Formats: sequence, C-alpha cells, structure tokens
Amino acid sequence: MQPALPPGPRVPAAIQSVAWWARPVPFLERCRASFGNRFTLRLVATPPFVMLADPDELKQVFTAPPDILHPGEGGRILEPVVGANSVLLLDGAAHMEQRKLMLGAFHRERMEGLADLVASVTEQEVAAWPREQPLELHPRLQALTLEVMLRAVLGLEAGERLELLRDRLTRILEFGSRPTVMIPALQVSVAGRGPWAAFERLRADADRLLFELIDERRPKGGEGDDVLAMLLAARHEDGSEMSKQELRDELMTLLVAGHETTASELAWAFERLVREPRVLGVLCDEVDRDDGEEYLTATVQETLRRRPVLLNAQPRFVKEPFEVGGWTFPSGACLVPNVHLVHHDASIYPDPYAFRPERFLEQPPGTYTWIPFGGGRRRCLGASFATLEMKIVLREVLFRARIAPASGALERTRRRSITVSPRLGARTILKDRTGAREPVGVG
Ligand code: HEM
Repeated sequence: MQPALPPGPRVPAAIQSVAWWARPVPFLERCRASFGNRFTLRLVATPPFVMLADPDELKQVFTAPPDILHPGEGGRILEPVVGANSVLLLDGAAHMEQRKLMLGAFHRERMEGLADLVASVTEQEVAAWPREQPLELHPRLQALTLEVMLRAVLGLEAGERLELLRDRLTRILEFGSRPTVMIPALQVSVAGRGPWAAFERLRADADRLLFELIDERRPKGGEGDDVLAMLLAARHEDGSEMSKQELRDELMTLLVAGHETTASELAWAFERLVREPRVLGVLCDEVDRDDGEEYLTATVQETLRRRPVLLNAQPRFVKEPFEVGGWTFPSGACLVPNVHLVHHDASIYPDPYAFRPERFLEQPPGTYTWIPFGGGRRRCLGASFATLEMKIVLREVLFRARIAPASGALERTRRRSITVSPRLGARTILKDRTGAREPVGVG
C-alpha cells in the first residue's frame, strides 16, 4: 500500500525545522537529491509540508478550486500586523472578494503611472548613499522600498505624518521579522511591559495615523495616482465602499508583502551583478544607450529566478482529498510549491546556477517554470509594481555610479523571517561616474 504522503527525511521534526530555518537552500537540494521533485518535510508546529517542484504538478496546485486548497490558513501568524481582512489570510469566496477590490490598483498601466514618483524617490535616496567605501546595500534598499511604499501606496507627502508613519512602520516590520514575537502563546503583556506590549503600542500609533489619513482622503474618493486612491474608489459587489478597517488591513498587507521582498530582491540583483562583469557590462551599455530595456527586464527576471527571496509560494492547506502526480493528498496535509527547486532544475534551466539573463531573451518566462511570484488566483498582486521598481532602481544606480563588490566571495543566504537575503547585506562599493557617457564596468 502506498504511504499517505510522499517520502522525505526521516530525522525528527526538530532537526528538520532547524535545517529548514537555518540552511534552507542546501537542505532543499539534499532532499531533492534523495527523494526527487516531491517530498514531505515534517516541521515543528505545522502540518506535513509536501514540497512540489514539477511544473505539471504546480499547474494543478495553482489552478485547484478555491474551496479545496487554502493558502490563507498558513498566514495566520501575520494577523496581528495585517489584520483579519487581509487578502493574505483569507480563502475561498472571502479571498476572491478582497482580491477583486485590490486588483484594479495593480494593473500594469496603473503601475506605470507611478514610475516618475518611484524614480524621484530613488534619485533622492541613491544620491545620499556614501561613495568609495564598502556599503551594505540591503538596509539602504529597505529604506528606499519603504519610502516608495509610503508615497506610492499611501500617497504621503513629506511632512510629520510621513515621518511618524515611517518610524512606526519600520519598527512594526522589524517585529514581523522576529517570528518569536508573533507566536500567539507569547503574545502577552505584563502590566503593559514586554515586547508584545511595545508592539501593541506601535500598532495603535500606526493605526491612528492610517485612520486619520483614510478619513482625510475619503471625501476626495479616487483622486490621485496612488494605491489608496484606487482602494477608496473600489466597491464591493453590493456597491458598498471598503470600510476603514478593511482599508487599514489591506494597506498594512501591502507594506508587509511588498517592502522586504522587493528590498531583498534588489539586494540580490546587486550581489549578482557586481560579480558578473560581463552581464554588468551589457546592462550598463543598454542603460547608457537609453534605448529600450530588454536586457534590464531579462536581468530582473534572471535575478528572480536565481535568487527568489521567497523559497516557496504560500503553503496550500488541503481541505478535501486532492489528487496531484498520482497521489491523493488527504485533508490536513499542506502542498507547497517550491520556487527554489523549480528555478534550479537543470532540465528546465541548463546550467541553473549560472547568472545568465540571455536565457530570458531566448525564451520568455513560463507560467509554471518561473514562479517567483507564485501562481493562480493567489499570484502576487504586486508583481508588476515590484518589477517596475526593480528596473527603476537598477537603472538609476547604474546610471550614477560604478559598482564593485566589497569582497570577492559570493554571498550566501540569510533568512530573515520568511525571506532570504544576501548574508552580508550585498556589500558593494559605489564610485561616482564622472560623465554619463563614460563606459562603466567593475571599477
Ligand atoms: C520582488 C518582490 C516580490 C516578490 C518576490 C513577491 C512574491 C510573492 C509570492 C511568492 C506570493 C505568494 C503567491 C502564491 O502563493 O501563489 C506573493 C503574494 C502577494 N504579494 Fe508579493 N512579492 C513581491 C512584491 C510585492 C509587492 C511590491 C506587493 C504590493 C505592493 C506585493 C503584494 C502581494 C500580495 C497582496 C500578495 C497576496 C496575494 C493573494 O493572496 O491573493 N508583493 N508575493
């Protein structure tokens, strides 16, 4: 008789959890070498995770009916930050309803309307980065992507509200990256003290600022290019507008889902580019010629392939027996589309560890073979926005500076909450370019 779930490592759940947490990439690769493209991990405090990495099987998971697989359930740990209405945490009809409200704000054309704003924020931030000394780009990129969010999503202008929200949100997002604080059993405050109480105070401050912003913007309806304007104009199927709490929850969702992911992905782009003089040279040429962005697009796609910041899409909780790849998965299991493994499958991507944007000039990314943004009805809402932002930031930095690695060895991964970023923060040296037409390269 076939076992209930595909085979996987036999070591105790505690040991698998440590490997999954501390060294996820080598752990996943070892598992694939032993068990193939489908294996089961047993981690502490979660249902069994069945990792899937075959494109046909991923297609079945991404297109499964909404009442059978529930990705929202796995996100519960984020509820204290993003709130109960968050599109990330909902499933079935409730998820579709919130997602439809938000879709309008994220159309590609709509995003392109934000390009000038993103470019001017980038220009300001990059001008302030020190030159001629080793610099960890990751924290700078975090500050940059947060600034872009505050302006493009919330539509904030320079001023006290922006300063206060920047401060509170930075600190809340830091809590979000310390999962222990988010574990429900530890969410206690003793006489208003302790990390949980500190978190609740920050959240109350941020909520007050967001509610004030919503109250001010509501009478102006959909006026403006920012995401909040679109959400204010969106209507439920019965014609009602989004409530204040719904708006707050979705705005926090966008900050949580879009800030650290984009910052880490950009950090990887720089970590790779400084070590790939050939690619950097071709890219700088294109930026200098200022005609088209074919190679820039392919470079962003290759970065997302080679170093996906989320190693897997949201785990899908099985609610009713579901068949994939000849297995019938019982309710209670969890199907996990594994991004890293598909992206490093030599039968799909020859020489998968090489950083070669040309592969995407030869063949555009496939729906089920290139999945940095997941897929199906849960696919990342901010994919166009993130791609646009990455292109703008790369172009701006390469136009203004020569970039070189601060050390020769490539950076390994560091896990920060659920994202992986370059372990040393993408240490880079920037040198000003004296003339825009000067050839650039690894200085
Ligand atoms: C490079 C940056 C980013 C990466 C790699 C990324 C990746 C992902 C992935 C893998 C998912 C889960 C998809 C699935 O399970 O099928 C997701 C969901 C989501 N992302 Fe992103 N994301 C990025 C940036 C953003 C940005 C900038 C925003 C918003 C402005 C955003 C908003 C969302 C939302 C709202 C969801 C939940 C969608 C749903 O459940 O219906 N993301 N993202």
